[in-house]
Amino acid sequence: MIVHRVLFVCLGNICRSPTAEGVFRKTVESRGLAGRFEIDSAGTGDWHLGAPPDHRAQRAAARRGIDLSGLRARRISAADLAAFDHLIAMDRDNHASLTRLAGAQHRHKVRLFLELSPGIDGDEVPDPYYGGEPGFDRALDLLEQASRDLHDHLSPADGDRE
Ligand code: 4NP
Repeated sequence: MIVHRVLFVCLGNICRSPTAEGVFRKTVESRGLAGRFEIDSAGTGDWHLGAPPDHRAQRAAARRGIDLSGLRARRISAADLAAFDHLIAMDRDNHASLTRLAGAQHRHKVRLFLELSPGIDGDEVPDPYYGGEPGFDRALDLLEQASRDLHDHLSPADGDRE
């Protein structure tokens, strides 16, 4: 039974949010709880509609056993804002765009991904698009920690039950 519907959101939906989708899926699968989650990603921009994740993001994820090759970029829709319980932004710009799009009805669902990770310095996953490969590895480091923290937050007792 699906209990949590989680949508990861960045600007282009080709670097950070598809990586977050893959990392969070792996986190819940490794804990045997994939069936409880619907996980997806989307962008606030529309430059890359239909494109697979950036090759650098795919390579960096593949090095950690995560396959992003089947994902395709899409833009967040009004239906997403209603359907998902958690709209998770990668940086403050995404957060501001999402908050505006969500309006009064859905604003309470919007949060910064790193908000729940007090162990991480800063609250943004920096955009690696214009940098080199190390930025993608750094993003993965942040996303892996934040995924564990998000799962702990959403399912604090799951570890005891399963
Ligand atoms: P993302 O990275 O938001 O993490 O997918 C970007 C991808 C593309 C662009 C900007 C950021 N762009 O300007 O095309």
